Amino acid sequence: MPAPDTRLWSIDTPNTSYVVAVDDHDRLRGLHWGPRLSAEQALALLELPESPFRPVIGREPRYDLSTGSAFQYGHNGLQVRFADGTRDLELAFTEAVEGDGALAFVFTDRHYPLEVRTRYRTRPDSDVIERTLELRNRGTEPIEVVRADSATWVVPGLDEPRLSQLHGEWGAETQLTRTTIPYGETVIGSRRGVTGHQSNPWVAIDDGAATETAGPVWSTALAWSGTWRITVEKGPTGSVTVSAGFGHDPIAIRLDGGATLETPVAAGLHTAHGFAGAASAWHDYALAHVLPHPGEVRPVLYNSWEATEFDFTAEDQMRLADRAAAMGCELFVMDDGWFGARVNDRAGLGDWTPNPDRFPDGLGPLIKHVHGLGMRFGIWVEPEMVNPDSDLYRAHPDWVYHQPHRRRSEVRQQLVLNLARPDVADHIHARLDELLSGNEIDFVKWDMNRPFTEAGWPGNDDPDRLWFDHTRNLYAILDRLRADHPHLRIESCSSGGGRVDFGILRRTDQVWTSDNTDAVDRIAIQDGFAQVYPARVMGAWVTDSPNPLTRREVPLDFRFHVAMAGVLAVGGDLRIWSDDEQARGAELVADYKRVRPTVQLGRRRPLRAGNVTGVQYDRGDTTVVLAWRRARDFAYPDPLLKLHVDPDARYREVRTGRVHHGAILASHGLDLGLTPADYASAMIELTREP
Ligand code: DGJ
Repeated sequence: MPAPDTRLWSIDTPNTSYVVAVDDHDRLRGLHWGPRLSAEQALALLELPESPFRPVIGREPRYDLSTGSAFQYGHNGLQVRFADGTRDLELAFTEAVEGDGALAFVFTDRHYPLEVRTRYRTRPDSDVIERTLELRNRGTEPIEVVRADSATWVVPGLDEPRLSQLHGEWGAETQLTRTTIPYGETVIGSRRGVTGHQSNPWVAIDDGAATETAGPVWSTALAWSGTWRITVEKGPTGSVTVSAGFGHDPIAIRLDGGATLETPVAAGLHTAHGFAGAASAWHDYALAHVLPHPGEVRPVLYNSWEATEFDFTAEDQMRLADRAAAMGCELFVMDDGWFGARVNDRAGLGDWTPNPDRFPDGLGPLIKHVHGLGMRFGIWVEPEMVNPDSDLYRAHPDWVYHQPHRRRSEVRQQLVLNLARPDVADHIHARLDELLSGNEIDFVKWDMNRPFTEAGWPGNDDPDRLWFDHTRNLYAILDRLRADHPHLRIESCSSGGGRVDFGILRRTDQVWTSDNTDAVDRIAIQDGFAQVYPARVMGAWVTDSPNPLTRREVPLDFRFHVAMAGVLAVGGDLRIWSDDEQARGAELVADYKRVRPTVQLGRRRPLRAGNVTGVQYDRGDTTVVLAWRRARDFAYPDPLLKLHVDPDARYREVRTGRVHHGAILASHGLDLGLTPADYASAMIELTREP
């Protein structure tokens, strides 16, 4: 909404406003990000004294009061170098263009032929604002783009600004941590070519006092699966800006004459309802506006990786499929080890034809068997990679990222294909298309198991563009495969949760959360994951006990109940599960299928009482409570778990028929009836009485 006779605009969502103004120096300044303002209230922002807020694009001036000149010292989300070496931008405001649910501000450099567009997009059912930046070279000489952040968000002044982030590593992804923001710049990101385990491209800012259910929270997420950085800067007066963009220091990309560079979406969200309120708004946004098949629930899948790793025959896969089907699984996924010479991790990556010893008649008999059991069939691929010991690498040793006079570092005996090359991208697309066209494959698990090293592209005079084009070509391949195989569903995996972001989720259906399937560790991983991403995409397998990675022994129910908080799957070696375990597993799978729409599509709220933690999912009249307790302290009874329910309603427990007063559930809590033993857990389904 533009204000008449001013250069002020309010970008409104159902509950919030982001107000910007173009000042007398043609800088776009963020004046407000918070509760929704009326037009009159927004205009009143112009009467406030000069605030420490900084422009949202272009330079960050610190005024020399005596001369009125501006200097660039702090973080700068847009940095270019013109052909003559000039680095500074002097942008003049051209126009604001509205249309297609978006508002774009257009600036042009006062001397050089560069046009800059910063775009804000809103939707009527969400408080998420999507922002992108577009650079257009209207001249003939190339411009070097050193940095083009999609958005710099201006957070209003806070006394004790606090940063929430998701950090981690392989096997310990999405660990939620909250810290006081130091003065200066705090940068998180990835230089690995992929989103990364170390940081997820999301941050939240609050005033240090927000709780799960109350208090203002500002958050942003970057929809990009390559390298990225988010810079949180606290200025001397305590003001905070958050700038998010693709690329990393020190790479730059060339913008040729006539070319346009469009950045990925940086999405921003303000809520007044605490961390769980923010998480739930992100989930709604993902379900309605990011995922390709909104409203669809994910099937219970079985994955063979932990059962067999590389050691299997087609017959082994069939036996696992028999057991998985008997347990109620709906999708059978054959993991790594089915193709080329891939009988261990030393060979075969790149050769996407069935291993002739394991599948002498191709994949057809196994797929027929799986379909005959009433399950869908899925298959693992890692298309961006090659083992040096493969036919592909022998034929095309120049197809991997490499640099002259530098060794090619192998990680897990593999190298990264230069997917930025159009011929390599075409080759990968063709091989996958062939695989999908020649076999009745319903699901692909797309893995990516090593970061870039020696990321060079000899012979290319703009080699840094590989960091951007790799991801763009990955997206293009996924988009094309989806369009040509509309029934296909895709899981994003990168050694567990190394590629989880809104960019990949726009073209995939679920993600592999972590290679750590230990139910106890998973509680924390899942809790961090859920700050941004919905249960509908969070792959969660029940595997063997002791857990293969941590060696922890955890009862079957506990393992199931933790996995039931996401997209339930089974990943254990069912050949060695006892009949009792099989039967109990089948009961729990059936329970999950009943509550699945509520878990996958409902509203999530974290629960905690002493050493009991859990989650509550709500959808319509159904409430599902999943709760876990590792060990009791002394011999104390387990605490009741307070629920987020309507105090004026009554709720019936589906299994027992017992009716509870909402007032008691909300103020005293629910008796979970946990066993006194260690690793106790419960799943309780409640329906609101009419
Ligand atoms: C890493 C994945 O995270 C695992 O689930 C499995 O698919 C292996 N790769 C196979 O190599």
